[in-house]
Amino acid sequence: MKIVSTPAELKRVLKEQFKDKSVGFIPTMGALHEGHISLIKNARKDNDVVVASIFVNPTQFLKGEDLDKYPKKEEADKKICEISGVDILFYPNASDIYGEDEVSILAPKVRGYVLEGASRPGHFNGVLTVVMKLLNIVNPTRAYFGKKDAQQLNLITLMVKQFFMDVEIIPCDTVREKDGLAQSSRNVYLDATQRKEALKISASLYEASNMISKKILDVKQIRDKIVEILNPLEIIYVEILDREFNPIKEVQIGNSVILVEAKVGTTRLLDNIWI
Ligand code: PAF
Repeated sequence: MKIVSTPAELKRVLKEQFKDKSVGFIPTMGALHEGHISLIKNARKDNDVVVASIFVNPTQFLKGEDLDKYPKKEEADKKICEISGVDILFYPNASDIYGEDEVSILAPKVRGYVLEGASRPGHFNGVLTVVMKLLNIVNPTRAYFGKKDAQQLNLITLMVKQFFMDVEIIPCDTVREKDGLAQSSRNVYLDATQRKEALKISASLYEASNMISKKILDVKQIRDKIVEILNPLEIIYVEILDREFNPIKEVQIGNSVILVEAKVGTTRLLDNIWI
């Protein structure tokens, strides 16, 4: 595996050594887990060359969020990339990616400011800006994103479409621990008691899916049940929407998503299921 740190070097390597090859790209912020490994494996399957990036993007953290304490596991991450089949790891510094007086991408006024965007206003401007930069540097054939960050995936797909970009966005399934907890880099913040409490999130989604399999499709009824199971966690949102993120009254099988964000201690955890 080759490790490169500047956009110019990455562009040069791709041009000189991998011209006309299909390129699969996995952008990450490091602290890699099974979820990332599954993105890498999907990319490995579909493409000639696999590029991953590790960059803790400062512009997507709001003031007071966990930028400074975001988990960093440089050596372990490099090993994971190598073992999972990454050919090129892009590991830039902030000064390689950002300059002064920057041009940036603005998240859409509605879809970018609901759900996670409502509690973290401006977060998706940072996400879309860095993803635009990374996609322009790597110029991949396909880029892989987890369904766990459903709103991020939705907005990136929209950006690629609306900016007429030549990359296929590939959504990948959420990877869970054996007990149901969705894999997330932020799970390391949880102590043993909080980790148990966090299971209420996946349990609430399993119960929702159970209700739907019994033909209970009423959104209010399902939402009430989820809220009951999440108690006493601090709920940031529980939403049942269509796949375009529009409100619905009844779950539409094949076109719905149930999204939950809740705080366990001070850690915000996201999860969702696609129905
Ligand atoms: O999902 C993430 O890890 C980040 O939001 C991403 C897509 C790498 C952009 O910094």
